[in-house]
Amino acid sequence: MEALVGQSASPAQQSPPSALRTAIVGAGMIGRVHLDAVRRAGAPVAGISASTPARAKEAAAALGVDRAFDSAESLVTSDDVDVVHLCTPNDTHAPLAALALRAGKHVVCEKPLATSSADADALASLAAGSGLVAAVPFVYRYHPMAAEARARVSDGRAGEVRLVHGHYLQDWLSEPGDTNWRVDPAAGGPSRAFADIGSHWCDLVEWVTGHRITELTAVSQTVERDGGTPATEDVVQVLFRTDRAATGSVTVSQISPGRKNRLWFEVDGSRTSLAFDQENPESLFVGSRGENAAVLRDPATLSPEAARLSVVPGGHPMGYLDCFAAFVRDVHSAIRGTAAAPCPTFDDAARMVRLTEAVLASAADRSWKEVS
Ligand SMILES: NC(=O)c1ccc[n+]([C@@H]2O[C@H](COP(=O)([O-])OP(=O)(O)OC[C@H]3O[C@@H](n4cnc5c(N)ncnc54)[C@H](O)[C@@H]3O)[C@@H](O)[C@H]2O)c1
Repeated sequence: MEALVGQSASPAQQSPPSALRTAIVGAGMIGRVHLDAVRRAGAPVAGISASTPARAKEAAAALGVDRAFDSAESLVTSDDVDVVHLCTPNDTHAPLAALALRAGKHVVCEKPLATSSADADALASLAAGSGLVAAVPFVYRYHPMAAEARARVSDGRAGEVRLVHGHYLQDWLSEPGDTNWRVDPAAGGPSRAFADIGSHWCDLVEWVTGHRITELTAVSQTVERDGGTPATEDVVQVLFRTDRAATGSVTVSQISPGRKNRLWFEVDGSRTSLAFDQENPESLFVGSRGENAAVLRDPATLSPEAARLSVVPGGHPMGYLDCFAAFVRDVHSAIRGTAAAPCPTFDDAARMVRLTEAVLASAADRSWKEVS
């Protein structure tokens, strides 16, 4: 990507209009999730684009969106759009996000923010200098019981965090014939499993603990696929240290049969342990030398942030789509200057790209790496 820094966005965007006209690039799995979240936030979906003009028309008709844009570029620079959501393969994120920011749009860009840290850092600088909201959906932060874990660390109930461990396991690429654009480094970038899902786990545990992973060593594994074409890694195992002297480990895999979306972490503090499982997100394990408990989601008893994110009473299960809706609501509040809590930003996402590069470098030369 060409130099991004030093070009500012249109000042017209400094006063956000009341209805945040939103348009979505990419009508695949996550594009549809974004669309649902935007509608739940009460904003009009002004348009959509897909990989071809014909597909954009099909998607607009199927999803009840008024306008199909012929290209991503025409959408992200349109005068009729205030907020752009980028929901396309990874290699398109950085150029489209830069174009959108330069056109004065607020941007929600899917992870990974870019396929290199140079591009990700340049984008984060461009966003910081623009005065626009630039957010990345690290949405697991929006599970109320993950927020409850964060509150119990920050208010001292967990004690000093000593150990952070867990995994993020999927199975959808476990058979030799399984494939997707993510497997191809040209579209997915040099890392797959770690950039795709390991970044979510690391963002989440850093957010819960307030610690930063500063040093790591990693091993990776790539399985044989039909056709023998070059593929990115299927498995990564990482050992790490944090800036506040905790140690940790994570296993990331997209080839674990039966595991669909098993993001699980445990934070072991000096007083209690806290464990969260995104496939069973209505409770938080709280372990101690005395009693262990599965604390259930109930806004009446949770910390203020977890209660804020609980949009239905306990016993009515919440999940992934609710996290997206909460994220988009917070993005809109940030645009209006009324944010109750900070959203995950391009800075956070650029950090995850740097972490990903450290993982790849460590796996390649079998050494410890510092994470800047
Ligand atoms: N935050 C999350 O929880 C989360 C979850 C899933 C995916 N993602 C991210 O979202 C992105 C998309 O993933 P997905 O699972 O929806 O993939 P997908 O393959 O289901 O959808 C991608 C869509 O983009 C379209 N597309 C490709 N090039 C395009 C272009 N130039 N303009 C417009 N559309 C184009 C494709 O036709 C396809 O429909 C990825 O970067 C992925 O990492 C994030």
